[in-house]
Amino acid sequence: MIEGELRFNPEVRGVAGSEELYCAAAMVFIQQARDSIETRGLFTVTLSGGSTPIGLYRLLADDLTIRAPLAWDKIHFFWGDERHVPPEHPDSNYRLAKEAILEKIPIPPENVHRVRSENPNAHQVAEEYEEMLRTFFRLEAGEYPRFDLVLLGMGSDGHTASLFPGTEALHDERHLVVANWIEKFQAYRITMTIPVFNHAAFVLFLVSGEEKAETLRLVLEEGRGKDTFPARLIRPCEGKLLWIVDQGAGRLLHKANNPIESKE
Ligand code: 6PG
Repeated sequence: MIEGELRFNPEVRGVAGSEELYCAAAMVFIQQARDSIETRGLFTVTLSGGSTPIGLYRLLADDLTIRAPLAWDKIHFFWGDERHVPPEHPDSNYRLAKEAILEKIPIPPENVHRVRSENPNAHQVAEEYEEMLRTFFRLEAGEYPRFDLVLLGMGSDGHTASLFPGTEALHDERHLVVANWIEKFQAYRITMTIPVFNHAAFVLFLVSGEEKAETLRLVLEEGRGKDTFPARLIRPCEGKLLWIVDQGAGRLLHKANNPIESKE
């Protein structure tokens, strides 16, 4: 067992279903937003793609009691990963967030930092996004940004963001953002690198669905080789790591680690 394995002890919160998952995630979002805005005057969040966060995005936008008190002009959205497609493409993570939340909230356009993935050169897309981050966070060479909240999901193969098992990006500690070649899609994906996520103040994983149960058990309770489950490599060095999982995804977890909240 490597030294890092011993320190992998994330908080895992089990909830009954997807509604409870979105509510619990919204509470984290609101709390982090308030704390960050109070202490530093702004709140920086990286969004994830995939289907799981859509319910959270909709809840933040559609529930007036949540939307109204949030200081949207102090909130800045970034993307942890993006598909190499233009922003209007059905697969675009930006488009997903735009439809679920961005066009429904009073956020200034300059607070929405999308990946310019319409550029056909994927490496250039990554370089430009990294440059934008360096400017925004005023980073010196070798420094990483400290996001207030990182939202992540996990695929059934253990990938997170666009950090897929066995891919080059898993070993990159030099860049903030890279174009990662994904063999099974025969495509590049643009993704932040592991050290960026690990320098965040708060990393929140949202995992839903029975098909993720076995991988989730292996990721949270077994541990494997370095590249097998990239989601396991996310462990903030000076931040909080919370996994919120629904009953389907969490059904194989050890009891002590899985306080499923029942509706009854
Ligand atoms: C993406 C992601 C990706 C996603 C997982 C889980 O761009 O697809 O950022 O890492 O979070 O694949 O996706 P689901 O929520 O759809 O299961």
